[in-house]
Amino acid sequence: MKSILFFAVGFFLFTSCSEKEKKHEKFTEETSSLYHGDLKPFYHGVASGDPLQDRVILWTRVTPEDSSATVNVTWEISTSPNFSSIVKSDSVSTSASRDFTVKVDVTELSPSTKYFYRFTALGQISETGETKTLPQKPDSLKLAVVSCANWEWGFFNPYEKISLRPDVDVVVHLGDFIYEYGIGKYGDTTIGRFNIPKHEIISLKDYRLRYSQYRLDKGLHDISMKHPMIAIWDDHEIANNSYAGGAQNHQPNEGDYEKRKAAARKAYYEWIPIRESENHYRTFSFGKLADMIMLDERLAGRQKQVDSIRDPSFQNENRTMLGKEQFEWFESQLKNSQATWKIIGNQVIFSDMNTQPLYSQMPTNFDSLDGYPAEKRKLKNFILQNKIKDLIFITGDAHSSWAIEVPIDTKKNYSPFAIELVTTSVSSANGNEKYPDETVKAKEAEMIKVNPHLKYLNNRDHGYLLLTLTQQKAKAEWWFVNTVRLPETGEFMGKSIEVRKGSVKFNP
Ligand SMILES: [Fe+2]
Repeated sequence: MKSILFFAVGFFLFTSCSEKEKKHEKFTEETSSLYHGDLKPFYHGVASGDPLQDRVILWTRVTPEDSSATVNVTWEISTSPNFSSIVKSDSVSTSASRDFTVKVDVTELSPSTKYFYRFTALGQISETGETKTLPQKPDSLKLAVVSCANWEWGFFNPYEKISLRPDVDVVVHLGDFIYEYGIGKYGDTTIGRFNIPKHEIISLKDYRLRYSQYRLDKGLHDISMKHPMIAIWDDHEIANNSYAGGAQNHQPNEGDYEKRKAAARKAYYEWIPIRESENHYRTFSFGKLADMIMLDERLAGRQKQVDSIRDPSFQNENRTMLGKEQFEWFESQLKNSQATWKIIGNQVIFSDMNTQPLYSQMPTNFDSLDGYPAEKRKLKNFILQNKIKDLIFITGDAHSSWAIEVPIDTKKNYSPFAIELVTTSVSSANGNEKYPDETVKAKEAEMIKVNPHLKYLNNRDHGYLLLTLTQQKAKAEWWFVNTVRLPETGEFMGKSIEVRKGSVKFNP
C-alpha cells in the first residue's frame, strides 16, 4: 500500500507545469449558452431506454468544470418518487473519453413496473426520471411514435406533449433524432434557433456537440425524463441518404466515410439510451400482444440509392436495403413471432407509392423500399407464403402523416396484406413550410386519387402518432401541435383510424 502511495506522490512531483495546467483545463462547450444553471452539472437531464421485462437503460450526462476529470456518478432506482425504497444503486465513472455521458443497464427488475431514478455527482443530485419495464401479459399497449426533429425548423413541442401523457408505455423513435447540416442549410433560422456547431457535423466532436444542443431543447428534455424510449437511427444521424458505403451528403473532401460513420455511431451510442450490440436491429416483446421488430435500413447493408428506373442495377435480384444477414433475421423474427401484432419499426415507406403529385420530379422515391424492388418482392412473397397476419409497419422519414393499406400490387386490384402507419415530423419541414395550405391540401387529395391504397394523408402538420393495441384492434391517432415556431403551443387530434385483428383494411 505504501509503495503505491509513494508512486502516486512521485508521479505528481514529476508532472510538468504545462501538464498540470492541461489537467485543470476548464471544460467549456459551445452549447453552454443553452444551459439552465439550476440543473448543474446535469444540464442535459436524464433519460431511459431499451426497456425489457427485467431491465432498462438509464442515462445522463455530467458537465464538469475540469475537462480532465474522471467523474464518479452514483445512480439509484426506486419504486417510489421520494426514493424511500431503493431497489438498486451503484456507482460508475465517466470522463471525456465518452463525452461525460453515463449509461447503466439496470437488471433484475420486475416487469410492468414504474420506476423512478436519479444520479448524484460532484455533490449534486439530478432531476428524477420516470421509466417503466415492459409488461409480460399486457391487455393493452400505448406507443408514441416519432421521427424527424430538426433544431432550426422548430421547437420540439410534440415531444413535450408526449411527456404530458402518463399512459404512454414507450416512445418509439424512428430516426432523424438530429440533423447534420450547418446553419441555414436546412431549416428556418428566422425563429432564432441556430445549429451548434455552425458547420456541417463530420468529426466526433461535431456529432457530440449537436447531440448536446438537441438535448437542451425543453421538449426533448421532458419526454426523456418521463418515458423510456426505443430508438433507431435513420440517415441524418450520419448524413442525408446514407447507406452502408456512403451518403448523398458525404463528399470526398469531407474525409473518409468510414471514419465519419464511426464518429456518428460513437456519439449516438454515447447520447442515446440504447443497449449496445454489434447489430442495431433488434426485437422487443410485449408478451402475446405484440412483437416490435426494429429494422436498420441505413448502415446494416443498404446499397447505394439509384436515381432512375433506367439504372441497370435497379431491377437487380440481389439489390438490398437490409443486407442479407438482416433480411434473413427479419424473416425468422416474422415467422417465429407468437404475438398477435407484428409491429415493424421502419425508417422509410414500405408501401408502393406514386409520389408524382407531391414531388413532380420524383414519381418514385428511390430512398424508400420502392427503390429496392426485388427485395420488396421477396419480403411480400415471404409474408404471403407464411400467412403472416396482423402486420403493422410504423414508419418515419416522410415528415407527413399517412394511413396505408399495404398493397400486393398497385397495378391490378391492390388487395392489401398489411397496414402501414407513417408518423409526421416533430419539427422538420413538410408541405406548408413551402406552399399555402390550400395548395398542400389539393396535392394530398391528388395523392389519394392516384394511390387508392392510401387512406389518409396530411402533409401540413407536425406532431406524433399514438398507437394503441389490444387483442381485438389497433387504433392509430395522429396528434398535431398548433405550431413549432413558438416554444409554447396547444395540440389537437388530426385523425383517428382503427384496424381489427385479422383485417388488412381500416374501419370505415
Ligand atoms: Fe427527416
